[in-house]
Amino acid sequence: MKCFIKDKILNIPNIESIIIGVFQSNKLSYFAKKIDVKSNGYISSLIRSEPQLSKPGNGVFLYKIPNINFKKVILVGCGDKDTITYETYIKIIHKSINILKTIVTPTIFFSLLDLNVKSYNLYWKIRIFIDIIYDSFYIFNKYKKSNKYFNLKKIYFTYISKKEKEIGKKAIKHSIAISIGKSYAKNLANCPPNICNPAYLVTCAKQLKHKYKNTINVSVLNATKIKNLGMNAYLSVGKGSKNKPYISIIKYKSINDVLNKKPIIFLGKGVTFDSGGISIKSSYAMDEMKYDMCGAAAVYGILLSVAQLNLPINIIGILAGSENMPDGNSFRPGDIIKTMSGKTVEIINTDAEGRLLLCDTLTYLEKYDPEIVIDVATLTGACITALGKNVSGFMTKDKLLSQELITASNQTNDKIWRLPMFDEYYEELKSNIADLRNVGSGTAGAITAACFLSHFSKKYRWAHLDIAGTAWTSGKEKSATGRPINLLIQFLLNRCKLSQ
Ligand code: BES
Ligand code: MN
Ligand code: ZN
Repeated sequence: MKCFIKDKILNIPNIESIIIGVFQSNKLSYFAKKIDVKSNGYISSLIRSEPQLSKPGNGVFLYKIPNINFKKVILVGCGDKDTITYETYIKIIHKSINILKTIVTPTIFFSLLDLNVKSYNLYWKIRIFIDIIYDSFYIFNKYKKSNKYFNLKKIYFTYISKKEKEIGKKAIKHSIAISIGKSYAKNLANCPPNICNPAYLVTCAKQLKHKYKNTINVSVLNATKIKNLGMNAYLSVGKGSKNKPYISIIKYKSINDVLNKKPIIFLGKGVTFDSGGISIKSSYAMDEMKYDMCGAAAVYGILLSVAQLNLPINIIGILAGSENMPDGNSFRPGDIIKTMSGKTVEIINTDAEGRLLLCDTLTYLEKYDPEIVIDVATLTGACITALGKNVSGFMTKDKLLSQELITASNQTNDKIWRLPMFDEYYEELKSNIADLRNVGSGTAGAITAACFLSHFSKKYRWAHLDIAGTAWTSGKEKSATGRPINLLIQFLLNRCKLSQ
């Protein structure tokens, strides 16, 4: 799918379809009016007889309207012209796409960028549209003899001023880079766990190096190196699995002048299958535990987007790969393990494995002297209980960093909510025989997990994102969502002062 923003759009030959809008009280959008005039009132007569069509969420497909070059027209209701909110705009886009999916068209002109959407300028109207259309047209059928495919190839927009053209181009560039990052992340995350194991994460990381030779480098820590570094907590998680653990380190170094030499590090939990280990999970929906590497997949997508955008900033992405399986060699509840930091951890539950991978990696990455570290992990079911499936949890003690993340979240509607890290939560992590236990002894599991991690991330500015609820949608139509890539690229764009 390619996107273009063009002048004199009606003179471009071979754009097969157009999306137009109608408002309450028989008002027409700019291009709806043009079509109406050319077709001797086809549209206005239609909406006079079907006034319901002007409601957001309604729409209709029209074919071969007399005197019109566009063979196919998608007409959607936009409601009251002067009170279009973000929610209305989303509704309009979703309806357009639902109709679009029922027809065959390689090219389409989305003519509704002139809608007056409250608090959203041209840049954001394009970002939102492209984000939704990429998400809606995503399919994962690598392992399916599927006849389902979409043939939409080109999407056109238009503009009125030169300034708008530049803004439009920037919005297209940003959103395409984000959408490509998201779809690569989704493909990786949707991959079954018999294919996508820790070694597979390494393969994918290395492919990035080939794709972006000038800016990306990849190095790998295998089990031997992990052991020699004293990362015993990391190692313990994979002990029961035949699939050995690997840490992939993806370094992006800008070819442009960098704003800041110290890298921003994204660390992703990459448990390619989480059975729970000896503290085995119940079998209900256990297939979805292949998604326990969604943090790593998101970090992989972020690095791809960053390289695509050539951001003037140094970034390191770390994929913390491992598989958590029950076996005679597995680590057990009761084990005491010495972490790379020197702190000992009493294992209470082998299903709290993510934090064991992350704690040692958080210590390891001190060597990069990072500006900021953000870890991204499907860490706790408790986070889903607290915030549901559309809001990621986040925890940090860094107020400024928190504000930056909230700003990026508000801009992209990639929702997050900050949970507190009060001192009393730390009490729950005390063990009578080791420095820490790996699970809290009470409630607030998402928070105690973050508190556990905070013991290992004291040497730099740090935030933790728990994406357990948001990384994938469950059930029969399960799929990875690509979250929180939009949020985190926005965070970087803001830091580079590149966004609107
Ligand atoms: N990967 C899971 C968390 C999870 C569960 C994410 C369900 C998404 C859906 C994590 O490794 C885990 O098992 N956490 C335990 C922690 C508990 C043992 C303290 C949990 O949340 O139950
Ligand atoms: Mn687990
Ligand atoms: Zn897990």
